[in-house]
Amino acid sequence: MWNNSFSPQPPVVREALSEAVSFLKRRGIPQPRLEAEVLLAALLGEERVKLITHDRRLLPPSLWKEYQELLRKRGEGWPLQYLTGRQEFMSLSFKVNPAVLIPRADTEVLVEKVLSYKETGTGSQIKHIVDVGTGSGAIAVSLAYYWPEVKVTGVDVSPEALAVARENAAIHGVEVEWIRGDLLTPLINARRKVQLVVSNPPYIPAGDLPSLSREVRKEPALALNGGPDGLDYYRCLAAQAPSCLEAPGLIALEIGWDQGEAVRELLERAGFTGIEIGRDYAGRDRVVTAVWRP
Ligand SMILES: C[S@@+](CC[C@H](N)C(=O)[O-])C[C@H]1O[C@@H](n2cnc3c(N)ncnc32)[C@H](O)[C@@H]1O
Repeated sequence: MWNNSFSPQPPVVREALSEAVSFLKRRGIPQPRLEAEVLLAALLGEERVKLITHDRRLLPPSLWKEYQELLRKRGEGWPLQYLTGRQEFMSLSFKVNPAVLIPRADTEVLVEKVLSYKETGTGSQIKHIVDVGTGSGAIAVSLAYYWPEVKVTGVDVSPEALAVARENAAIHGVEVEWIRGDLLTPLINARRKVQLVVSNPPYIPAGDLPSLSREVRKEPALALNGGPDGLDYYRCLAAQAPSCLEAPGLIALEIGWDQGEAVRELLERAGFTGIEIGRDYAGRDRVVTAVWRP
């Protein structure tokens, strides 16, 4: 293989992987062997281990072309998950595409916080949860899956994201109500009440967007841009949530590691009490919870 070109003839799996690894290495991909294997295994629809145990198979010509295309895209900075179409979240496999944020491990902390209410007195009063900015449906589908007794609604302004969320609910066999709309406005307009509002809203300050990694910049700006100081969505949610929370209602929000105190202040000013800031596995502030009891 010379420069960026691949062998014209379809190679056997072992050679295809070795060409892929050199290509990804030259493109600065940090774990070229792992990614080369993940992409080929996804394309063949098989476990990675089979690539090693059956490495003398000849790749069909069309598949070799498809593999090259995926490698080129990865080399251009497309996240691996968009190329395989999958991301694991809360031990469930979620479909993803460039219309949705790739669910993050940090967000599992938020879901676990909500699930921790399940066995408590507070939990017994929770009948209906709304996930605002549902994206792939990672939060809404996980909650419906692990807490089947509650009704879950997912709201997003993006119809393309909602289409992915719907597919994820079907994949995991859960019922979620999907609404296209702006934050909590559809619920407020319909005078509907819930007992818990959960959200991982866009929270990156607009000015920081250009300095994000090229992979993150391939994710939808609508899922990242939190306005000039990153706090726009928290302001809106703090203002809107009291109108659709049945007291005592709960709000659980993912935040950026440095936004804890600012979000606490916003919620306090909106009349929330019992504000707690929870940490992620790296020990950074990641989740804010609060109670609405007017
Ligand atoms: C940070 S992503 C979170 C996605 C998903 N909940 C997760 O945690 O992986 C934020 C989501 O909010 C959606 N969004 C942005 N503005 C919105 C608005 N005004 N109303 C509803 N959803 C919005 C975006 O389309 C995106 O799917």
